[in-house]
Amino acid sequence: MAAARGEFTSRFGFVMAAAGSAVGLGNIWGFPTQAASNGGAAFLLVYLALAFSLAYPALMAELILGRHAHANAVNALRLISPGTLLRRIGVSTGVIGLCVASLILSFYAIVAGWMIAFCLASIAGLLGLEGFAQWLTSFGAPRNITFMLLFMTLTIGIISEGVSEGIERWSARLMPALLVTLVLLVGYVLTLDGAMEGLKVYLLPDFERALSPKLIIAALGAAFFSLSLGVGTMLIYGSYISDKENLPLLGGMVTLVDISIAVLAGFLVLPAMYVALHNGVEIFTAGGTLISEDTLIFTVLPELFSTMGTAGIIVSITFFFLMSIAALTSSISMLEVPVAYTIEEHGVSRKKAVWVIGGIIAAISTVILFNFAQLFGLVIAFTTRYSQPLLGFMFCLYAGWVFNRNTLLQELRKGNPQVEQGLFWKIWPWYVKLVCPLIILAIFAQSLWG
Ligand code: TRP
Repeated sequence: MAAARGEFTSRFGFVMAAAGSAVGLGNIWGFPTQAASNGGAAFLLVYLALAFSLAYPALMAELILGRHAHANAVNALRLISPGTLLRRIGVSTGVIGLCVASLILSFYAIVAGWMIAFCLASIAGLLGLEGFAQWLTSFGAPRNITFMLLFMTLTIGIISEGVSEGIERWSARLMPALLVTLVLLVGYVLTLDGAMEGLKVYLLPDFERALSPKLIIAALGAAFFSLSLGVGTMLIYGSYISDKENLPLLGGMVTLVDISIAVLAGFLVLPAMYVALHNGVEIFTAGGTLISEDTLIFTVLPELFSTMGTAGIIVSITFFFLMSIAALTSSISMLEVPVAYTIEEHGVSRKKAVWVIGGIIAAISTVILFNFAQLFGLVIAFTTRYSQPLLGFMFCLYAGWVFNRNTLLQELRKGNPQVEQGLFWKIWPWYVKLVCPLIILAIFAQSLWG
């Protein structure tokens, strides 16, 4: 993805970029943490059901609209709308989406900053700089702000250059490395005392909990967050896909990669929690709820790494380094949303747009950091739990009701001439029209009044 449109030259390039956007802190920090605090297996079950039945169709809505319009979300929704009213609603949806994308980046940069700090802390530990390592891993305003700013600067730097081939090639190599590290860590953690306890929590569902409104809405938010939906990120990525590509297939690949990595991370984090518990680390309050949900993995993973002796330091460096990279390939896809819009709508230069918008987002992050207890959880809940699914609902409505059915078919036929005979065309159009919006509404109604 770069300043010019139509940039993805290969299927691999797209899948890497979109998977790079999708795979991030949501998979390894968000999903397992949520699973741990929402009944483990019950959450996993609902998450999987919602990811395939709602998030995948919503992803397809964004990809199709994006490739059709070859433009950002605001322009795309404007383009397909026939009348003034629909056009206005479409434009508002796009604009709200880019505000939400910016807010998401404002908390994402904070957590990503912690990843960098923990990576450096392990290096400092290796060099014997205990005091520095201590500072890097303790929760404090100077550390938090420093690393948030560092992460934002990296994000801004990449986006202001346009995403060069470098980052694509980079993530193509580092994503597999992340996967291998994860698999090895899972293999290791399962050999430790206490891990089986965690595995049980992760795999044995309590079906009664699976029906709780709080759990369902959390799982919906997690699925939409993990696939980067609702704010126009995937729509923009869709606008860079070549007409030769088979969209349902590409979307399916991205969904599979993303969900597999989240599920895999659960096999690491939940057992690691119980290993930590076994080693005397307090992770639950007397009432049985998790202590410090948001920073959970920063407690239990270092504890896990410390059981490995010197090798643990290397593993820790590798792990937090790869997490920082995974966060970066996601954060650039968030910043690109407001930036692409500002460039295309207001004719501002890319450099200027990136620095101004990046600066505003960093300022918001700073405000969040100074009011951490009040704002951090609130911003996450507002953006991921409520805004993303509701905006996804709007994208489904536009793809299902506003977008002309023939144009839609033409769009899908481009990379897949036989699409009419396939299952996707038989199911998706009415599904995205009726089923997706109704389920999303039902989940919200249930959570508000249930
Ligand atoms: N999906 C990414 C993750 O799991 C985060 C992400 C990237 C995102 N772009 C987004 C989330 C747009 C919401 C909207 O970490």
